Amino acid sequence: STSSAMDSNCLTLTRFVLAEQKKVPYATGELTQLLNSIQTAVKVISSAVRRAGITQLFGTVGETNVQGEEVKKLDVLANELFINMLASSYTVGLLISEENETVIEIETDKKGKYIVAFDPLDGSSNIDCLVSIGSIFAVMKKEDNSIPSLKDALLSGNRVVAAGYALYGSATMLVISMGNGVNGFMLDPSIGEFILTDKDMTIPNKGNIYAINEGYTHLWDDAIREYVQTKKDPSKGKPYNARYVGSMVADIHRTIKYGGIFIYPATSASPKGKLRLLYECVPMAYLITQAGGLAYDGHIPILDIKAESLHQRTPAFLGSKEDVQEILAIIKKHK
Ligand code: AHG
Ligand code: MN
Ligand code: MN
Repeated sequence: STSSAMDSNCLTLTRFVLAEQKKVPYATGELTQLLNSIQTAVKVISSAVRRAGITQLFGTVGETNVQGEEVKKLDVLANELFINMLASSYTVGLLISEENETVIEIETDKKGKYIVAFDPLDGSSNIDCLVSIGSIFAVMKKEDNSIPSLKDALLSGNRVVAAGYALYGSATMLVISMGNGVNGFMLDPSIGEFILTDKDMTIPNKGNIYAINEGYTHLWDDAIREYVQTKKDPSKGKPYNARYVGSMVADIHRTIKYGGIFIYPATSASPKGKLRLLYECVPMAYLITQAGGLAYDGHIPILDIKAESLHQRTPAFLGSKEDVQEILAIIKKHK
């Protein structure tokens, strides 16, 4: 077949998820249904992101457009999409969103066994200037498969059964793991389907890129300062390239593809860093780990952290095995 021909056997995300779930002997099809609902949300968000300037989705809530209608900010729209699609999938009991102070409980007759924690639109500072943004999610369930009640909201990394992110970049891509490696699917806008393009994504063992907001150098502790200094010092090896989008999804996607390290450390201003455990760090830690990399809070694996509150933060060191090990050793030395 030629590159311009239509593929009569294209491997869509839906087909892929179905096939993966068929391998699990006791699977009920609920996870497939759940991931389908997220897929729909992501398609609509992608379309909204691409047309945001035209449909006046930029700017703050409270503004009105030329028709006098209220302008809905992209992240409010994205949040409503995630909630509406998931709540009607008959697969989730509880939802945790960056945009909602408290847990969202699903109506009794629609309840299912899964809990989904999500950041519907991450990278808010990049929205209005057209730099890449993304959505992040983790799917968890109780050990006994029972329907979660409110007191079960704080399941942590060890209860994740699937996680993923959507990157609204130069193309829209959905990267997902169901505990059996990581796969990437590109959105083909001409047919509205995600097509498997990045099979079995693995992160290089060592990279040559570091990603950290260096404007905070004055707030770092000595270990972080020493590490970043080392990465720029030609007498300590070939200096690394600095790359920092400021959208976690874009920075993590690059880190998985090219290798290297992404760091959001504790600072003296915010002793637990900025990023949230349940819907930013846990999903990314799951994916990075599944891709063969490491994801630590500086001391322990992020997936081992016990959640204590919905919006708790954690420092994050994610990336290539050797690069993360190197900074962990420096942190240990400084203790
Ligand atoms: P938000 O959740 O407000 O959209 O923040 C984005 C996150 C994450 O995507 C990114 O890695 C980080 O904030 C950047 O923060 P700094 O501007 O402090 O570097
Ligand atoms: Mn957000
Ligand atoms: Mn966020």
